[in-house]
Amino acid sequence: MTLVGLAVGAVLAVVAIFIPWLPDQASREAGLIDNAYWLVTIICVVVFAVVAGVSVYAVWKFRAPPGDLEDGSPIHGHTGLEIAWTVIPIVLVTAIAVYSGVALAQAEDIPDEHRVVEISAQQFAWTFTYPGIKRPDGQPLASGELVMRVDEPVEFQISSKDVIHSFWVPEFRMKQDAVPGITTRTYVTPTKLGTFPVVCTELCGLGHSTMRSRARVLTTAEFDRWVEEQKRLAEEGASVQGKELFTQQCGSCHTLADAGTTMELGPNLDNVLPGLSADEIRESIVDPNAEIAEGFQPNVMPDDFGERLTDPQIDGLVEYLREATGGG
Ligand code: CUA
Repeated sequence: MTLVGLAVGAVLAVVAIFIPWLPDQASREAGLIDNAYWLVTIICVVVFAVVAGVSVYAVWKFRAPPGDLEDGSPIHGHTGLEIAWTVIPIVLVTAIAVYSGVALAQAEDIPDEHRVVEISAQQFAWTFTYPGIKRPDGQPLASGELVMRVDEPVEFQISSKDVIHSFWVPEFRMKQDAVPGITTRTYVTPTKLGTFPVVCTELCGLGHSTMRSRARVLTTAEFDRWVEEQKRLAEEGASVQGKELFTQQCGSCHTLADAGTTMELGPNLDNVLPGLSADEIRESIVDPNAEIAEGFQPNVMPDDFGERLTDPQIDGLVEYLREATGGG
């Protein structure tokens, strides 16, 4: 019975490995995590096949004939079996713990020379700040999308402004919570050019499913061009920065044709903003519960954007929104 179970387990394990269940591997760490994942999966498949196989066989083989109400023969203890079902799980669980610990240590072992990117999470948007890159006004470069240079190791320093979120790029495999009050870390060396989704993987409120961004992995030349472009944008007028800010912070909930955003968690701004004064638009940002558009619930939009954003940022946002919706 055990041999049949083992054979079935081996076949299932091979099937499991040859179906491409997992996303592409786009980081140095992805292979380490996948190997640990497959080790655990294969152990589970084989243990399940043996236990289920023996159970099904025993139910069929030793079933009572109709009308047989007698007790079964008394059995007490089997030292060999008891040793086996104690020792085998100990060996398996210890092997998984050691293998995973080594894989995690290798994934987090990156060279001293590496880039630091600060990730700030808030309902329902991501901000990526590059403390090593200064804009013309002396502020560090910040972006609503994660841009990385291929083969450059990155240390992410992750924080949250409100509730617990979790940063994850499936193709990179590494995942880390963003917890208010502390800075958590994770490490990624991207190895593949391309664009990958950034997802929030901790239920964080009504907009959790829309809390997405993207990670772009570029060549060195493309990355340098992106940095120059961001510096140039920072020097442009308030309304250009306002648009950038809108796409990063507001677009995950609001529709606005000019910015190309389509989410409908909050009111469609192309409908509700035309005709409003700058002061009214400002109020709807810093005190969103003062007036609620018809069909929407109060207390969905965070009411602390007045503290999260600087005054120039809010000015830029208001100016952009007036321009984009036909105001003065
Ligand atoms: Cu942030 Cu889910």
